[in-house]
Amino acid sequence: MTTPKKLFIKTYGCQMNVYDSERMSEALGGQGYVETKTPDDADMILLNTCHIREKAAEKVYSELGRLKGLKASNPDLKIGVAGCVAQAEGAEIMRRQPAVDLVVGPQSYHRLPEMEAKTRQGEKALDTDFPEEDKFEKLKSRPKARRAPSAFLTVQEGCDKFCAFCVVPYTRGAEASRPVARILDEARDLVERGVREITLLGQNVNAYHGTGPNGSDYTLAKLIWDLDKVDGLERIRFTTSHPNDMTEDLIEAHGTCSKLMPYLHLPVQSGSDKILKRMNRGHTAESYLRLIERIRGARPDILMSGDFIVGFPEETEVDFQATLDLVAEVNYGYAYSFKYSTRPGTPAAERAQVDAGEADDRLQRLQSLITRQQHSIQDGMVGRTVKVLFEKPGRQAGQMMGKSEYLHAVHVADAQVSVGEIKAVKIVDSLTNSLAGELV
Ligand code: 5AD
Ligand code: SF4
Repeated sequence: MTTPKKLFIKTYGCQMNVYDSERMSEALGGQGYVETKTPDDADMILLNTCHIREKAAEKVYSELGRLKGLKASNPDLKIGVAGCVAQAEGAEIMRRQPAVDLVVGPQSYHRLPEMEAKTRQGEKALDTDFPEEDKFEKLKSRPKARRAPSAFLTVQEGCDKFCAFCVVPYTRGAEASRPVARILDEARDLVERGVREITLLGQNVNAYHGTGPNGSDYTLAKLIWDLDKVDGLERIRFTTSHPNDMTEDLIEAHGTCSKLMPYLHLPVQSGSDKILKRMNRGHTAESYLRLIERIRGARPDILMSGDFIVGFPEETEVDFQATLDLVAEVNYGYAYSFKYSTRPGTPAAERAQVDAGEADDRLQRLQSLITRQQHSIQDGMVGRTVKVLFEKPGRQAGQMMGKSEYLHAVHVADAQVSVGEIKAVKIVDSLTNSLAGELV
């Protein structure tokens, strides 16, 4: 038996990259690779990268600078760059860092085995095509090993919305949905391997419009209802959504589908109509607020989450105040806020930029409001009984960790539960980033 080669993958950015890294690892498994937790003894290092903000992209080059030193002690080591930086910068990566042997864009992962073989011949391998074939179909089915009870499943990729700040339409390409049957097969396979919760992924997941049986058209809600019938699957989530694609059937499902969890990530980016228009968002602050009213009408306890950008070109203090007002009105359980980062090739990159110090100050003010909301919602859970899906042992002996329906991290001391079980837990304390509970 030949000794397996070792693969080290480092993942940056969003959950879709987490999913893609898993699939790449499986694809290279067929080439005799097993994953290792450290780059030091790896035969292949893959950085699965993010291009969403400048900092994220620059991190890749500093990491490559550090990693290239490993080639001195291991001349057979191959270094690859995957993900959105690979897509956006292509061959430029190899020019900037000649230690890189392989560059593969997010639509070409199924070609990794051939590309790996090429690097073993001492050649460089580059593929950033948008091929016609379905990469997920070509990435051979997962090994049947048990896995963690919560899994991601990509159902849709790409984006046609062209928000003026965003690189995704360029790095991930046009919107495309996977066929229903393949998603259901993958979901059943995950459940057989111990998965209880699936988070459906897409850059614009609620724009999902896959093909169902007999060529019928599916919405995300229809897909969720099909998944609802999968025995053994207990929880369904989806992310990330655009307000304009929150169709009536999807809103309704939040009230009627018991497996659909009461948590919704619905980015709005800004509370100023002037800025929303310049961002090319296609909605107003008011229409977003009315939408949330309808969603809460269907599921009153739903926990809302969002994304915000501060310091978008031409954002004034008045615009920023409108964002604070919107946040105050929504009351988010979670929210992610970012300082605008100029991305080459996007429309907003050409416009007058906001002073960096001013943007930092706004970011701080927004984050402190969000943190207060987050904590007050978390504190409000004390005394309530939630259902926890247990995922792993906690740091202390006997402790178990899991997630509530609302995605709060919950830990229970001396819990007689196994990974994958869902149990009622009474919340007794609210800590900085988690809740403490007792089995009911
Ligand atoms: N600058 C800052 N934040 C950005 N995002 C997307 N593009 C940019 C950018 N150029 C944020 C948005 C998006 C999240 C994934 O990242 O808020 O919803
Ligand atoms: Fe990063 Fe966006 Fe690409 Fe995800 S889709 S990896 S967040 S650039």
